[in-house]
Amino acid sequence: MVLAITRSVIFAKVVVALTGLVMVGFIIGHTSGNLLIFVGQDAINTYAQGLKDIGAALWVVRSALIISVVLHIYYTLKLTALNKAAKPIGYKKTTYKRSTFASRNMTILGLTILFFIIYHLLHYTFQVTHPQFKDLQDSLGRHDVYNMIVAGFQNPIICIFYILGVLGLGYHLRHGIQSMIHTIGLNSDSAKKYSNLFAKLITIFAVVGLGSIPISVLIGLVGGK
Ligand code: HEM
Repeated sequence: MVLAITRSVIFAKVVVALTGLVMVGFIIGHTSGNLLIFVGQDAINTYAQGLKDIGAALWVVRSALIISVVLHIYYTLKLTALNKAAKPIGYKKTTYKRSTFASRNMTILGLTILFFIIYHLLHYTFQVTHPQFKDLQDSLGRHDVYNMIVAGFQNPIICIFYILGVLGLGYHLRHGIQSMIHTIGLNSDSAKKYSNLFAKLITIFAVVGLGSIPISVLIGLVGGK
């Protein structure tokens, strides 16, 4: 019984780590691509059109991402259940020694990010919340992603929502990357030091990179007349 639970926990942790790695890769790519907005309209529209032009390959990446999200959520919830099963009596008093806000709230943070992503897809990818975004075209007849992002962030409430979403992602990313490195067995003191630094750098890149976009539009640094 104990051995079976241990095996299931290890399997679930490995799936959570590998699927997390796929998503970290996506976030690095997505942040880099979106930062092209600071280069200008042509740069980001060329990038967005380039992604569309790779056609079937884009769907391979999208499918890997969707499968990763589903498995990541399923095995995270399973891990929570297995951890409860392994501690049927429960602690008399919960102490949070050496744990952080992010580590105690990974599941709830993850589900909040999922809610953010659903809104984000309806906003910019499927343009359900703002159907007028579909008609935006630049002078070369490409979808005008630059002006879509600018128009999308003219609303301060939407900007605040995105900034909160990106901060939530930052908390989740930092702890998630550290746990992922721990799961693949890099547990020595020096490995921990480097994994903490690595997690911090990726988190700062994503939070500052993505968070700077709504803020720059709001203060007129991007898209201002
Ligand atoms: C605040 C900064 C962000 C901006 C400006 C932004 C911008 C965009 C844009 C413009 C698209 C649509 C691209 C197109 O269809 O041409 C998109 C798609 C997407 N974004 Fe973001 N995004 C941001 C943050 C995020 C975050 C934090 C996540 C994940 C946690 C995320 C996940 C996605 C996903 C999964 C897609 C769909 C990709 C696809 O169609 O294959 N984005 N984003």
